[in-house]
Amino acid sequence: MPLVGTKEMFKKAYEGQYAIGAFNVNNMEIVQGITEAAGALKSPLILQCSAGARKYAKHEYLVHLVQAALEINDIPIALHLDHGADFETCKSCIDGGFTSVMIDGSHFPFKENIELTKKVVEYAHEHGVLVEGELGQLAGIEDDVNVSAENASYTQPEEVEEFVEKTGVDSLAIAIGTSHGALKFKPEQCTRNADGVLVPPELRFDILAEIEKKIPQFPIVLHGASSVIPKYVKIINANGGNLADAVGIPEDQLRKAAKSAVCKINIDSDLRLAMTAGIREHFNAHPEHFDPRQYITDGRAYIKELVEHKIKNVLGSDGRADEIMAIIKK
Ligand code: G3H
Ligand code: 13P
Ligand code: ZN
Repeated sequence: MPLVGTKEMFKKAYEGQYAIGAFNVNNMEIVQGITEAAGALKSPLILQCSAGARKYAKHEYLVHLVQAALEINDIPIALHLDHGADFETCKSCIDGGFTSVMIDGSHFPFKENIELTKKVVEYAHEHGVLVEGELGQLAGIEDDVNVSAENASYTQPEEVEEFVEKTGVDSLAIAIGTSHGALKFKPEQCTRNADGVLVPPELRFDILAEIEKKIPQFPIVLHGASSVIPKYVKIINANGGNLADAVGIPEDQLRKAAKSAVCKINIDSDLRLAMTAGIREHFNAHPEHFDPRQYITDGRAYIKELVEHKIKNVLGSDGRADEIMAIIKK
């Protein structure tokens, strides 16, 4: 099975009211944990690499790790550049085998965002590659860009139609209250439920509905969509970590989003937490171990467990691999 694009995935996800998980990959064990889970559940998958991942692991390693995963698992996988900062980075991924790229011009004024995105779309489409653009700014950290909560801004529905039309993008990332990282909300932004657990403010589904009205049938992307699963945070903290007040996007809201125009849900922080939980737990139980295969195996097992949970209970993409393969083969 060769790498696939996201066009067919998004079409089916839109029709079937589910979302494709876009998981960030940085090394072999992360690729393995994610693809073993998706392979077992026959789920389509987007594996995405940030600039930081390409710097850490090198582009060639990442492409070949994903190729290896495709040889082992019979599911459609798209390889996507996450948060491409400029034309050159996107070009390098388009030329280097990726099937989809994001050009993140969200921090530029509207017109400049359009110009940059259009330039990437033209080059990408000439090479059969799909493009995700972004309007609105999420709080949190993406590589070297740190957007404070005060500077974050929701997507303005009145801009989306012009943006999509003028740029020719294939999907659009929007800001409706999610943010990057494991500490998405400050405690003072949240309320506490009866068990004392922090509950963040609801996502702006009203903005999402407005956007859907302006660009019907158009695939929407949700960044910063980790739910920061308490199980892994607890394991980390019980084994020497210190992640007080880590709080993510509640999974029922992500499930609701997946049933709407949201066709791609980005997850990175949850993977980091699962891997770290497995490794910390292992070291605490086996202080005498020093073979990386021993402790990373436990991190990889938690990644697999996490991705299975996401596919079944949040994305709803289990069992959907075949319907996508069927339209790709046509
Ligand atoms: O959106 C940000 C992703 O979590 C990637 O993070 O830039 O640290 O690889 P990174
Ligand atoms: P999280 O930090 O919520 O996992 O978001 C990841 C992301 O949006 C990658 O682009
Ligand atoms: Zn992101």
